[in-house]
Amino acid sequence: MTEDIKKGLLGIVVDETEVSKVMPEINSLTYRGYAAQDLCAKCKFEEVAYLILNGELPSEKQLKNFEKVERKERNLSKTLLESIKNFPKKSHPMDVARTAVSIMGLEDKETKDNSPEANLRKVMRIFAKTPVALAAFYRIRKGKKIIKPKNNLTFSENFFYMCFGKVPEKEIVKAFDVSLILYAEHSFNVSTFTARTITSSLSDIHGAITGAIASLKGPLHGGANEEVMHMMNKIKKPENALNWINNALDQKTVVMGFGHRVYKSGDSRVPTMREYFSKVAKVKKDKKFEKIYDIVEKVMIERKNIHPNVDYPTGPTYHLMGFDTDFFTPIFVISRITGWSAHILEQHAANKLIRPLASYKGNSYRKVVPINQR
Ligand SMILES: CC(C)(COP(=O)(O)OP(=O)(O)OC[C@H]1O[C@@H](n2cnc3c(N)ncnc32)[C@H](O)[C@@H]1OP(=O)(O)O)[C@@H](O)C(=O)NCCC(=O)NCCS
Repeated sequence: MTEDIKKGLLGIVVDETEVSKVMPEINSLTYRGYAAQDLCAKCKFEEVAYLILNGELPSEKQLKNFEKVERKERNLSKTLLESIKNFPKKSHPMDVARTAVSIMGLEDKETKDNSPEANLRKVMRIFAKTPVALAAFYRIRKGKKIIKPKNNLTFSENFFYMCFGKVPEKEIVKAFDVSLILYAEHSFNVSTFTARTITSSLSDIHGAITGAIASLKGPLHGGANEEVMHMMNKIKKPENALNWINNALDQKTVVMGFGHRVYKSGDSRVPTMREYFSKVAKVKKDKKFEKIYDIVEKVMIERKNIHPNVDYPTGPTYHLMGFDTDFFTPIFVISRITGWSAHILEQHAANKLIRPLASYKGNSYRKVVPINQR
């Protein structure tokens, strides 16, 4: 008998969540009931991180306390820093993030404690330290001196500062903050589901986030923002864009930054990110990437009716901000740690071991022939 197989769990509802709601039918996304666009307009990233983790927007006092904890945890142990210094310089920064979180798990005194209180404390450590680890690697591999975090800077400002030694224009910082808000959470995507699956065996939060980072790295998920930039670099100039995209589609190429498992008529996060991409391009006096962006998007919609996802505008935005392309998905990580963690806490609160079934299609029953007779 052939079972009804839902490959890729397509359309399957596997659990309940209170963290976020993706509504493709009205092109909307809410975190804890608040529209992501509204949060982008009125909040800074730390407020949204607090909301995702705690369920409510913070009061001024709660935010201050949250920021105090995050800033206090912005340091790396000697072991972790020495390990990063010894990582191969050619390592992909996503592998650096994955390994750094894993090392944090070795060092955390509360690794085994899965109580909500201990897990929230561990989240704050992972949340604060991962950008520091990534920025350290950013500098080390360029042969530059590591820049220590500054406690009077916001989460976003500090990341720029640790990578580049200075905080850019406020429009750039705001665009980065918005990208972090839009990347923070997106329900049961593959990396979040991975984190929940690991958690479902009652494993620890460092392991769940390590697994989630590995999952996010793939080009069909977070890795797409890097692929978008590779594509734009291949196109080189707006005059080449039309031919490039038409040829790509003629050859049935999967165009990165387009399509989505849930949104079929447009990703709710794109209009906001597109607007901030424009703002960044204006500050950087760049017209090339917006032109390429628009031409490729138009053809994708006209020929395939496939719309861009959020990785399409973030790719060129991060490039214009000055980040190396292989740092785009790690930036996604430093934001999504919040969403993953909220789901890990939720999974612990109402756990059921995740264990689907498979339809077997291998050899039928057979006898083992001893090795000397094979
Ligand atoms: C995200 C993604 C994996 C969703 O896939 P999915 O829900 O499994 O949908 P499918 O891959 O089955 O796509 C359905 C059809 O659209 C086509 N399609 C989907 N995305 C496409 C893209 N980016 N470029 C070209 N064709 C695409 C598929 O080839 C398929 O065509 P077919 O029916 O003729 O075979 C897919 O759209 C993709 O690979 N996108 C590029 C990677 C990316 O940007 N990922 C980030 C997601 S946020």
